[in-house]
Amino acid sequence: MKNASAPVTHYRKDYLPPDFLIETVKLKFELDPNATLVSSELMLRRNPQSDGLAQKLFLNGEGLTLKAIFIDDEELTEKDYDIDESGLTLNRVSDRFVLKTCVEIDPANNAALEGLYVSGDKFCTQCEAEGFRKITFYMDRPDVLAEFFVRIEADKTQYPLLLSNGNKLDSGDLSENKHYTEWHDPFLKPCYLFALVAGDLDLLADEFVTHSGRKIALELYVDKGKLDQSQFAMESLKNAMAWDEKRYNLEYDLDLYMIVAVGDFNMGAMENKGLNIFNTKYVLANPATGTDQDFENIESVIGHEYFHNWTGNRVTCRDWFQLSLKEGLTVFRDQQFTEDMRSKAVKRIDDVKVIRSYQFAEDAGPMAHPIRPDAYIEMNNFYTVTVYNKGAEVIRMLHTLLGEEGFQKGMSLYFKRHDGSAATCDDFVAAMSDANQFNLDQFKYWYSQAGTPTLRVDYDYDESNQCLKLHFSQNNAHESASEPYFIPVKLGLVGTKGNQVSFSSAEFGLTNVEEGLIIVTQPNQTVNLEGVSEEVIPSLLRDFTAPVKLDINYSDQQLAYLFANDGNTFNRWDAGQRLMQRFLIDEEDSIKESIAEAFRALLNDQSIDNAFKARCVQIPDLKTLFENDPNGRIDSLIERRKTLKKFLGIALEDTWSRLYNQLHRASDLDLDGVSVANRALKNASLDYMAFSSEQHEAIVIKQFEDAKLMTEELSAFSIANHHELEVASKITQAFYDKWHSEPLVMDKWLAIQASVDSLDTLNRIQTLRHDRVFNIKNPNKVRALFSTFAALNFSQFHRIDGAGYRLIAEAIIEIDEFNNQVAANLAKQFSSAAKLDDARKMHVQQQLKKVIDKENLSKDVFEVVSKTLE
Ligand code: ARG
Ligand code: ZN
Repeated sequence: MKNASAPVTHYRKDYLPPDFLIETVKLKFELDPNATLVSSELMLRRNPQSDGLAQKLFLNGEGLTLKAIFIDDEELTEKDYDIDESGLTLNRVSDRFVLKTCVEIDPANNAALEGLYVSGDKFCTQCEAEGFRKITFYMDRPDVLAEFFVRIEADKTQYPLLLSNGNKLDSGDLSENKHYTEWHDPFLKPCYLFALVAGDLDLLADEFVTHSGRKIALELYVDKGKLDQSQFAMESLKNAMAWDEKRYNLEYDLDLYMIVAVGDFNMGAMENKGLNIFNTKYVLANPATGTDQDFENIESVIGHEYFHNWTGNRVTCRDWFQLSLKEGLTVFRDQQFTEDMRSKAVKRIDDVKVIRSYQFAEDAGPMAHPIRPDAYIEMNNFYTVTVYNKGAEVIRMLHTLLGEEGFQKGMSLYFKRHDGSAATCDDFVAAMSDANQFNLDQFKYWYSQAGTPTLRVDYDYDESNQCLKLHFSQNNAHESASEPYFIPVKLGLVGTKGNQVSFSSAEFGLTNVEEGLIIVTQPNQTVNLEGVSEEVIPSLLRDFTAPVKLDINYSDQQLAYLFANDGNTFNRWDAGQRLMQRFLIDEEDSIKESIAEAFRALLNDQSIDNAFKARCVQIPDLKTLFENDPNGRIDSLIERRKTLKKFLGIALEDTWSRLYNQLHRASDLDLDGVSVANRALKNASLDYMAFSSEQHEAIVIKQFEDAKLMTEELSAFSIANHHELEVASKITQAFYDKWHSEPLVMDKWLAIQASVDSLDTLNRIQTLRHDRVFNIKNPNKVRALFSTFAALNFSQFHRIDGAGYRLIAEAIIEIDEFNNQVAANLAKQFSSAAKLDDARKMHVQQQLKKVIDKENLSKDVFEVVSKTLE
């Protein structure tokens, strides 16, 4: 370590309430790209909840140049305060005082994109988790809630628009072609929800009338010329507002809701009070530029940030260890929103795929942590699939256990108790428990233990007593997990004629049901199902009612049977996935015939929805396979996956081309569910056709040339590249010529080329990174080229000569110079290191040592890489 000071670890157990509270904040920004002045006036008072002894007060502040400092209008002298690289210490404070400071900052050179920075020609902010300290001296912690008054001054020509949180109080002209606006946010908030935007933008304006009849002005701001890509986001916002009223009885609270889209953004979007700031990726799309998947993502992220207004802003987190309080809950809410807007079963499949490929891998890797972490070096490293998506699974289990009505009762009590304050995960669970008289003590291990439990099930049928015995045992490999979990298991029984067989369970209050919920709480537990009239195959963990690995010993025939007959859509899909893993992981060669047969039956069944079919014919991705393969045999998994795909392409030749032609003829330009589903299945068919159809290349070219929708154009472009068709380079060039001035479309162009399984891809990436559309300072570009390569291009990232690892390690070193967050995220791509074979492991270690030896390595990257090297 060459860092000046060793990175500090923060622990959840060390929480103490703040010594002081901030009642009001008055901020004045005099905007200038290289020298912005931030004047702040804080009304501070001693926290009655503290021990009252503190004589000093520390305020966070990083990279600030202090210009002036006063307490109660008296200028401080050098002995009154100390400043170091982390902040300002006031050496003697009274019980109540006003602190005034003025600092200078340099937004144009802020490539970390945290705090106040410049993106394009506009100013914007990102403060969560701890970015506000780069704007002014402040108690930068989420449990300090204050009333904000903001004044912004800037050049009127360059920055006609000056926005901040809440309501606009005043605006007017100043001398020297400057102007100002003044904002007031009546809702108390922590500083991570502060936002400011200044620039010259196009506006899409609309209105929403709430269920109590209040009119809310909706304003969506995008870069000049992008209004034709902003309508869908606005529709999504109105749908989200209506949905939250209907399902949660939650109404918007200010009179104005603003969204601004910016091209340089570290994450997806940010729920700043009344002024969301979004990555353009989750706002801008019309059918020509955005795929069907983009539209779904936009709807869901717009929903997510809107839902945060209650679950995040009105009730926020006491400390950052509680992040899942707002994120797990809000992801769960946005998942429900998509389920209600689109197909519930298909959305569930898509969400579970994320858990199984990314979250299970994180749980098994060096950065494993409970959804409520106990320690961190850099909080930004904990915006993870565990906190967000496993967090959402934990909330979903509460919903499953309590039912919609019970869950809503719990939500009401939660808001009643905590509205306007900062809460903990324990508070949330207590509200759910108290509102329902439901003991959740054991359930809480889901918050404190890391790792993925395995739920093993054996069963036997006693015909004479018509009793099915299910023997469960739970097992959690992770060191932090010694306590058994409280696991809800939804189940049904499938009879030999494809029928659903009813059952009873006195223990769980089930009488003659076709589907029911049981709860596994013991390390080993037997559940008796009574009244089971025939031999059955149990269908367990329906809809993935718990984030566990279900280990049950089905025969190949039983799996194929469940794939065809399970009464639960999710479990049907799951049976198909398991069946394919028999070939891919268990290396059962002969099973490929039954897979083909099962596919044929599925694809010919007119009663099944095409979106579901499209999911079923997707072979499990390599990340999931690698995670599930106890030995992590990269080369064999890659080979077998190719073999299976090719086999299915050829074996079902007629089916694929019939489907393609049928769906192509019927294709339209609509974005409704049926059209989206048709395109998904059609493009999956075209992908398989590459292995058989002689006209395949001509069809791909035609689809590319005729395409009016990005979904069509991109899949032709992608198939041409992935199958290395002769026409690939021509198509790649044509796509570039058409779209080179649309950054979001160029992200797709980069991503597809980075994911091609070809020895040439590394060279291609070296060329692409010097293309004029690439810019290493832009996170979307880094993700498109480097993260896609590392996450999705299994064969080339894991090249046996280590060249893939070297590419990513060098990118981390380069990016860490200016953007620690993006660099650290890239470093997480090495999390599977421990499972690799010796040769690859050695290459990874060599590369990571280079990274950790870097001069001035950020604590962000240090935390990830040091844990990976352990
Ligand atoms: N709260 C934002 C959201 O999920 C994300 C903020 C992420 N911040 C970070 N430093 N990674 O909606
Ligand atoms: Zn969120």
